[in-house]
Amino acid sequence: MKNIFITGISKGLGLELCRSLLRNEEMILYGVSRTMTPELEQLVKQYEGRLHWQAFDLAKTGAIEAELFDGFITPGTILHGFIDNAAILYKDLVVHINSSGLSELMKVNVEAPMILTKCVLRNFMQHRTKGSIIHFSSICAHDGFNGLAMMGASKGALESFSRSVACEYGRYGIRSNVVVIGLLEMGMGFSVNDRQSTGLKSRSPLGINTQYSSIEQMVELLLSDASYSITGQNIHINSGIR
Ligand SMILES: NC(=O)c1ccc[n+]([C@@H]2O[C@H](COP(=O)([O-])OP(=O)(O)OC[C@H]3O[C@@H](n4cnc5c(N)ncnc54)[C@H](OP(=O)(O)O)[C@@H]3O)[C@@H](O)[C@H]2O)c1
Repeated sequence: MKNIFITGISKGLGLELCRSLLRNEEMILYGVSRTMTPELEQLVKQYEGRLHWQAFDLAKTGAIEAELFDGFITPGTILHGFIDNAAILYKDLVVHINSSGLSELMKVNVEAPMILTKCVLRNFMQHRTKGSIIHFSSICAHDGFNGLAMMGASKGALESFSRSVACEYGRYGIRSNVVVIGLLEMGMGFSVNDRQSTGLKSRSPLGINTQYSSIEQMVELLLSDASYSITGQNIHINSGIR
């Protein structure tokens, strides 16, 4: 059995990944989000005992250790993987930055993943697990887009954090990688208008947006022992956008 902790499972990519991973009977998922959606409720019922859900607001970074890594994931739970999926989108021009929006973005997209990573690493080391950590970044950390400067900066921070985690904990067999996603036709991807979506497709040699199946397959590979020599990487899945 493999116990995987995943954030942001109420909708979008996190919900779809739960659906995909649970088809493998070896997987037990521990997921968090602020809300329970009808789709998630149905999945929890369908996979009773293999999909555990906890309501939690990741902006409450000071409560992560006590509420998630004592009550929900107990010290006796042996984790094998962490999928850092939850994020918020803060879209605005830089001249309009407001400190509360910026602060929430940094709490959910940067601070929470770092504290969660600390707790997951401790769990891996306590149980001598050669665990796999997967963060999601975005093409906006590598290219300029109007309105996405703050979002891009938050994802860039995660990428450099992951590289050093891979360095510090490689000697325990623990791996950390980032999947850098282009534009998906789900979740936050719907906040992009048709003109922007067409613009991105036209920069792809394949002429398509990012397919969910490519993300799913990469996540499954990174969670498996077959990817044991892959660590400290940013893996770009974006239909080859140039
Ligand atoms: N979709 C794309 O085109 C795209 C492109 C590049 C990168 N990505 C990355 O892929 C990941 C998933 O994106 P998505 O498109 O699936 O986004 P989404 O549809 O907006 O889903 C985000 C998930 O995160 C959860 N979440 C947000 N704030 C939270 C908080 N404070 N506490 C706990 N949970 C919280 C949400 O649940 P609640 O609202 O119920 O809390 C939801 O389940 C993100 O890291 C995103 O940056 C997506």
